[in-house]
Amino acid sequence: MKGRESGMPEEAYWATFFDPEAALDQLLILGNSLGHTVEFGCGFGTFTLPAARRTTGIVTALDIEPEMVEAVRQKADVEKLDNIRPEVRDFVADGTGLENASQAHAMIFNLLHLENPVALLREAHRVLDAGGVLSVIHWRSDIATPRGPSLEIRPTPEQCQAWMQEAGFKAIQSVDLQASCPYHFGLLGQR
Ligand SMILES: C[S@@+](CC[C@H](N)C(=O)[O-])C[C@H]1O[C@@H](n2cnc3c(N)ncnc32)[C@H](O)[C@@H]1O
Repeated sequence: MKGRESGMPEEAYWATFFDPEAALDQLLILGNSLGHTVEFGCGFGTFTLPAARRTTGIVTALDIEPEMVEAVRQKADVEKLDNIRPEVRDFVADGTGLENASQAHAMIFNLLHLENPVALLREAHRVLDAGGVLSVIHWRSDIATPRGPSLEIRPTPEQCQAWMQEAGFKAIQSVDLQASCPYHFGLLGQR
């Protein structure tokens, strides 16, 4: 089932909200998570390609929308990034299909407002290895933002931290993304 309010606007407009390279540099340095990566809801690949450039591991990029997955596939081809594995998949209904403890990094960006966030976080927890790191980015609700899910369903950092804890994550820390994604907050959690 596609998460509520998880559709995408025009790609060029979406791209104006992020400096994904800088955001991943911040998250990965803190999380030290270079290895196999799974991305829940890759969208246009805004963060997929930068993640793939930062690891020699495989980046499994999952999305329920075939056109999003195809867009990522084409970008990976153009950039000759052969470590991206894009896949059409409903991870709410079917999980990631990845082995237990097989990933070093899981990315859940702009998605935790979906109906059952803890189930998604549990799936991320399951596939991460012992040193694995989850990174979360989401729209802020403490400032006006030009886009983002309705405020009634938009989780705060504190809410996301509580869900992460419930799913089993430890050593949860916040990452200040003001310089790279001013409309977003960032969180890291250890498996
Ligand atoms: C708001 S977009 C965020 C895309 C990307 N994470 C980013 O931040 O640029 C959410 C993405 O999750 C995908 N999605 C929503 N529900 C899904 C599901 N159940 N299974 C797989 N993908 C899903 C949507 O198709 C969409 O591309």
